Amino acid sequence: MTTNKINLRCFSLTDLNRIMEIEHASFAIDSFSEDIFMSWYHKCPYLFIVAEISGVVVGYMITCITHKKSYVASIAVDPAYRHKSVGKTLVYFTFNHLKTSGVKIVELEVRSTNIESIRFWENLGFSPLRTISNYYNDGTDALKMRKLLGG
Ligand SMILES: CC(C)(COP(=O)(O)OP(=O)(O)OC[C@H]1O[C@@H](n2cnc3c(N)ncnc32)[C@H](O)[C@@H]1OP(=O)(O)O)[C@@H](O)C(=O)NCCC(=O)NCCS
Repeated sequence: MTTNKINLRCFSLTDLNRIMEIEHASFAIDSFSEDIFMSWYHKCPYLFIVAEISGVVVGYMITCITHKKSYVASIAVDPAYRHKSVGKTLVYFTFNHLKTSGVKIVELEVRSTNIESIRFWENLGFSPLRTISNYYNDGTDALKMRKLLGG
């Protein structure tokens, strides 16, 4: 059996077009613009991580640290590469970085209708904190989720 190795590295500006492709394929209505990606890049360059398989960028994750808390700004995997542990690999790498930085809390918001992603986060140890009404532009609620990083 051949397995495709997942390589992780920091985002670089030459990845932007590919990240935009993944973004548009992943988020129907509220995909980030190039400007938003650039502002996250300037805010949190060390945790804007891209995943590659055979030299192709297949996913990304952006996390920001503010004081001793962290916030997952976004994660997406190219639909053709989902369910191959790319998302999980990005998350575990990020958790390790956060732990070594002394960060104990990770939070995020997910569309309350995005059941697949809510399951994904629950499987990674996140618990629902509360619902934020009318959070997205189309009026959909967000579910705020949190994980405490032990050790
Ligand atoms: C959420 C997302 C990043 C997951 O990426 P992925 O590479 O497919 O995830 P993985 O293959 O690493 O899956 C990790 C675990 O999550 C769970 N999981 C993944 N997809 C799932 C699904 N559709 N339904 C239920 N559980 C799922 C599985 O338990 C899996 O672990 P296992 O393979 O050991 O059983 C991807 O589906 C995606 O890009 N979605 C669209 C964008 C999005 O909604 N982002 C999140 C916004 S908060």
